[in-house]
Parts: sequence; C-alpha cells; structure tokens
Amino acid sequence: MMSDKLVTAFEAQKQACDLLGSPLTRDIVGFCCADFVANGPVANLVRGWQGDPLNDNVPLRLAGFVHHTALSGDASLNGFFASCDGAYHDSDRVTLETAMRDLFSREEKAARRFLRSAPQTNETARSAMLLLAFSEISKRFAMPLRLREMGASAGLNMFFDRFHYTLQTDNGTRDWGDKKSPLSLEATWRGTPPDLTDKIEVASRRGCDLFPVDISNADARLKLQSWIWGDMPERRARLLAALQIADTAPPQIDRADAAGWVAAQIMQRPVGEVTVLYHSIVWPYLDVSQRFAIESAFAQAGEDVRPDAPLVWLKMDGRELGTIARLSYRIWSGENGPQGEEVIIGPCHPHGVDLEIEAAF
Ligand SMILES: C[S@@+](CC[C@H](N)C(=O)[O-])C[C@H]1O[C@@H](n2cnc3c(N)ncnc32)[C@H](O)[C@@H]1O
Repeated sequence: MMSDKLVTAFEAQKQACDLLGSPLTRDIVGFCCADFVANGPVANLVRGWQGDPLNDNVPLRLAGFVHHTALSGDASLNGFFASCDGAYHDSDRVTLETAMRDLFSREEKAARRFLRSAPQTNETARSAMLLLAFSEISKRFAMPLRLREMGASAGLNMFFDRFHYTLQTDNGTRDWGDKKSPLSLEATWRGTPPDLTDKIEVASRRGCDLFPVDISNADARLKLQSWIWGDMPERRARLLAALQIADTAPPQIDRADAAGWVAAQIMQRPVGEVTVLYHSIVWPYLDVSQRFAIESAFAQAGEDVRPDAPLVWLKMDGRELGTIARLSYRIWSGENGPQGEEVIIGPCHPHGVDLEIEAAF
C-alpha cells in the first residue's frame, strides 16, 4: 500500500539523517512522518504519491521545502537553521513542530509546487576524486581538456581546476590548486597516488541534465541551497564558494537526456583537444535503454579516433544507488584500437570523502 511505502520512506530517511549527523533534518522528517500518519496537512500533500516515495525522495522534498522557507526569511523557522545563523537543539523540537504544522497548513500551494522538484545537491567534494583522473589524462595527452559532463546538475564540478585541494595520502599531505581559491576541499587518497600535474588546461566546459540548475536564476540558486541540510554549515559553505567561482563564467548546461546528448558530444571532436565525457553519481539513475545508448555511442565513436582528437570516458559512479562508487576511465588514443584501454583507479566514497587507489602508477 502507498501509505506503508511512505512510512517506510520516512523511517529510512530519519535513520539516514541520524547516521549522517543531521538532527535537524531527522526531526523535520520525523514530524512529517507523524503528521502523515495523523492525517495532518502533510498527508494532504503526499497521499497517493504517483511514483516510488523512496526513489523520489519524498521525505527530503518536504524537508527541502521547510529549509527553503527558512532561507526565504520565515521568522518562525529560520532561528532553527545554522544556514540562517540560527541553531537547533533537541529541546527545540516541539516549537519547531508547531512552526512546521502552521507552515504546511498555511502554504499548501507553495508546498505542492516545491514537491515537484527532485532534490539536487551538486556535490563539489566529488571533484576531489575526479582530480586524479583529470591530472592523469592531462599528463598523457598534453592537450587541453574539452569537458563534457552528463547529469551535471548546476555544473559546479566543471570548475574542478579552480578549486584548492588538500589530500591526505599514504605518503603525507598533498596540495593542489590555487591556495587563494574560495573553495578548498579536503579528501583522503589511500594507496600510492601518482604525481599530479601542476596545471590542467581546460579548453571548454559544457554539460547536460534532465533538470539543469540555472545558477543565474535566484530561485533555482536558493533551491540548490535548500537541499543541503540546514545544520551542515560546511557543505553550505562549499556550495556558496563553488557558486562564487562558477558565477565568473556560468557554464552552459543543456536541458537534455544524457542518452542522445552524449552521442552528439563525442562523435565530432575538435582537433588538438582531449574530449573527456564524464559523470559522477548519475549512472544509477539511467534505465537500461539509456545506458545502452551511451555505451553504443562510445563503441561507435571509439572506432574512429585519431591521435590528434582523443576521447576519454571518465566515471566516478556505481551501477545502482547505494552500491559502491568507483573511479575509472577508458581512453581511446587513436593508437590503442577500438576498445581503447581502461584504467580502474579504485573505489571511492559517493560523496567524495575518500578514494582507495588500487591502480599502479
Ligand atoms: C545524484 S545527482 C549528481 C549530480 C552531479 N553529477 C554531482 O556529482 O553532484 C544525479 C543527476 O543526474 C541527473 N540525471 C538523471 N537522469 C538523467 C538523464 N537521463 N539525463 C541527464 N541527466 C540525468 C539528475 O537530474 C541529477 O542532476
């Protein structure tokens, strides 16, 4: 039954919030669950949800709406959110619940509109994984990278070369990038990483998404912030810093299904640039026919690669949601045949916290 599925989705999300260290989002989701069961205004909004409430992240859509309202300046809510310079304590739960009950009764129309959008966080920490592969690709070809990202969301990871990185490795700490960058990322690379090239030249940046986030639109920007849990100030600071960088030259993100877009981007490749088609945590969202279309496009493009216009397929991805993510890439250099050659770097955290380097460099 749909109501059982919704309760399961709420309970699973509550546990995940606890595990991931967000008591505020846990209590927002907990309230939504209780209000749903008690047939309150939340039940009015999500009863009969068309789709799978777990896959569609219904609890996080509701939590996103509450956060969005706080970020928009609602005085009954913003005091609980670190993102609005407030703070949340366990003892605030009852007052928060009263404010949310009032919100969902008062703003039913706005809530319905908000619930139509799927949560998108565009996690820039993933750049701290992708960096290793971009560096290796640059070293191999000594040509600028033509970046093409499918499932790019707001396109923030396309600016990976403008971030600063502090990487803990088995051989000590490594630094990469401009120390004055507004965005400084920290990650762990276990194993023996290769030397990183000092400079990675980017020829162009372009992405696609089914639901691209237009960072020049104030509301889309606020929504992007609202998906970050309101008591996670570091993640919020990362997002704001990445937006500041992307604002200097907003990326072109086509509203397109990756299946057709990938083929269009990789078949024609400019001479003197390496075309790098890449993605992070997108593959699990594609169905069999979309995956097949992308694999076929690479198989076809791989048959006709010249050394002056190489092609790379870079993945920081898993097969299904919740399965382990892996960093790997396949290179078609024009000299290594239609299959190209695959480099499997190793498993990594889906949010970009750490990478296990298995490849020998
Ligand atoms: C988990 S998010 C990852 C976003 C970004 N790659 C990152 O690492 O932050 C998955 C993204 O894939 C997009 N997506 C899902 N299916 C897609 C498709 N068929 N074509 C293009 N984008 C798709 C979603 O809209 C969403 O922005």
